[in-house]
Amino acid sequence: MSKVASGKSTASKAKLLDEFNASIMFDKELYLQDIEGSIAHVKMLSKQNIISTEAKEKIINGLHVIQKEIEDGEYEFNIADEDIHMSIESRLSALIGDDAKRMHTARSRNDQVALDFRMYVLKSNKELVELLLELERVLVDIASKHTKTLLPGMTHLQHAQPINFAYHMLAYTSMFKRDIERLEESHKRNNISPIGCAALAGSPYPTDREYEAKLLGFDSVSINCLDTVSDRDFALEILFNISTMMMHISRLSEEIILWSSSEFGFVELSDEYSTSSSIMPQKKNPDVPELLRGKTGRVNGNLISLLTVLKGLPLAYNKDMQEDKEGVFDSVKTAKISVKILSEALKGMSVDEEAMLRATKKGHLSATDLADYLTANCEYTFRDAYKLTGEVVAFAEERKKDISELNLEELQKFESNIKEDIIDTLQLESSMNARNSQGGTATCSTLVQLEYFANWLKSR
Ligand code: ARG
Repeated sequence: MSKVASGKSTASKAKLLDEFNASIMFDKELYLQDIEGSIAHVKMLSKQNIISTEAKEKIINGLHVIQKEIEDGEYEFNIADEDIHMSIESRLSALIGDDAKRMHTARSRNDQVALDFRMYVLKSNKELVELLLELERVLVDIASKHTKTLLPGMTHLQHAQPINFAYHMLAYTSMFKRDIERLEESHKRNNISPIGCAALAGSPYPTDREYEAKLLGFDSVSINCLDTVSDRDFALEILFNISTMMMHISRLSEEIILWSSSEFGFVELSDEYSTSSSIMPQKKNPDVPELLRGKTGRVNGNLISLLTVLKGLPLAYNKDMQEDKEGVFDSVKTAKISVKILSEALKGMSVDEEAMLRATKKGHLSATDLADYLTANCEYTFRDAYKLTGEVVAFAEERKKDISELNLEELQKFESNIKEDIIDTLQLESSMNARNSQGGTATCSTLVQLEYFANWLKSR
């Protein structure tokens, strides 16, 4: 028997090889997919009269025993078995004897690992979608309370125009909705069965790939076996989708970190989701958003890592591909806990509307409204209006006032045709509500967006 088929090595040199070659330490994560895949496989083999009904029953019963052993923590994962596929087969042999050897008919570990890993990724896509939907509900809930809460909208991290806090939260709701759509589109694209491709060229047995695919919940069967056993696009897609989602989480985290500083003071994380300093007793640190921001780096690394592993591989399977799993497992786990903890942290976050309003009064956020007013009512070209507004801002600065706090007399010194209605125009709330175009920040436009997301969530 070859070394691999026997799963045993003798020399110490070979022990080192076992350690290096094995994936069992991490691919045991795939035990359930492996068992489900094998059950479907022997059902197909028996239906096609490739193995007997008795052999099928014995194998399935044995696999159920193994599943229970693993879940009860009684199973021994042995490095000499190399990977989860060999491990389960060798345990099955010990449990039921020679019939176990029939299970691997008309398949290879190449299509087996492609199946298990794909099933894991598809399941993870769905789990992530569920978690993201919960995050969306939290964001929409926060938004529903703040359609009139003013805060400075920024560009270049400089005060730009007044917006409301719901509008800001709904920007993130939009991002996470795209993340959900990407995960679902990827699920749809990749819900194709690889099993039955065998080593690389298909199999000489009278198999029924369609039947096996159906048992496992796939939409269809892959077209070309050579591609199928070499394909890890589904894994790259979840890595990219997670990286993009974590980038969104990281941007929101960055804002929460800024907003919870004393310079901003816009929000406060609950004590439950903050940490303290080991030396400075007065401190409350935003470790949760900082870690979320930090973990984004690692998931990006996992994406680049797999792209790099795959880029030079000739068809079909190469052992390099065993390096595909750890990064995906890591990214999936990181993504799941990240979405969960972000939802929880947001639920407990308090919003200081007063602090947001105070900040909105800094930076002459309604300056554009004065320029628009001069253009619309005083026969200015926009450029001339822009210039005059600059002079008004400088004047307000000198008086240590915000432009929204100037009175009519002060404004008329610059342009006598300015009327009483300018006072209301320059109020921050009016400025926010003036931007009532579709998708704009006006409370009425924000409410339309809020309803859109609420309806979408209801339909889910
Ligand atoms: N442990 C292997 C992996 O994860 C399984 C496939 C092994 N196939 C082979 N021909 N050596 O990639």
